[in-house]
Amino acid sequence: MNPTSYESSPRVRQEAITNDGPLILFAEHHRILRRAAEDLLACCYEDNCRALIAEFRIFERQLIEHMTVEEELVLPAFAAIAAEEAAAILEAHRALRKQLERTAVDVELHSIRIASIRTLLAALDASAEHEDRTMYPWAQMYLPKAARDVIAERMFASVRKLTRLALG
Ligand SMILES: [Fe+2]
Repeated sequence: MNPTSYESSPRVRQEAITNDGPLILFAEHHRILRRAAEDLLACCYEDNCRALIAEFRIFERQLIEHMTVEEELVLPAFAAIAAEEAAAILEAHRALRKQLERTAVDVELHSIRIASIRTLLAALDASAEHEDRTMYPWAQMYLPKAARDVIAERMFASVRKLTRLALG
C-alpha cells in the first residue's frame, strides 16, 4: 500500500488517553474501543477477511480487558454502595461477552454479518452510557489511589495495543 492511501485508511489513527482519573480513563477507553469496532465494520464492508480476523482478535481481548479491570478494581466496592446498579453492569458485561463469543465464531467461520458487529456496537454503547451515569462518577470520587493507579496502567497498556491495531 502506498503512503498516501495508507494514511487515508480509516484504520490509521493515533489514540491517546490521559490519567485524569477513572471517569475519564474508562470513558476514553470506551470511545477508542468504539472506534475499533467501527473499523471492524469497515473491514466487513471492504470484504477484508484477513484484516477482520486480526483486528477482531485484538478488539476482543481489549474489550474483555476493559470489563475485567472494572470487575476486579471497581465493581466490588461500587456494589457495596449501589448493589442494583452494580448487578446491572455485571449483567451487561455478561451479555457483551456472549455477543463477543457469537461474533468471534462468525469471524472464524468467515460468515461475519454486519448485523453482528452492529449488535456488538449497540451493546457497547448501552454499557458505556450506563457506566458513565453510575459507576464512573462514583469511582472518580471514591476509588482509592492504589486502584486508580492500576486502572491507569492497564488502560494505557490496552490503548497501546489498540493503537498498534490501528497502525497495522
Ligand atoms: Fe466500561
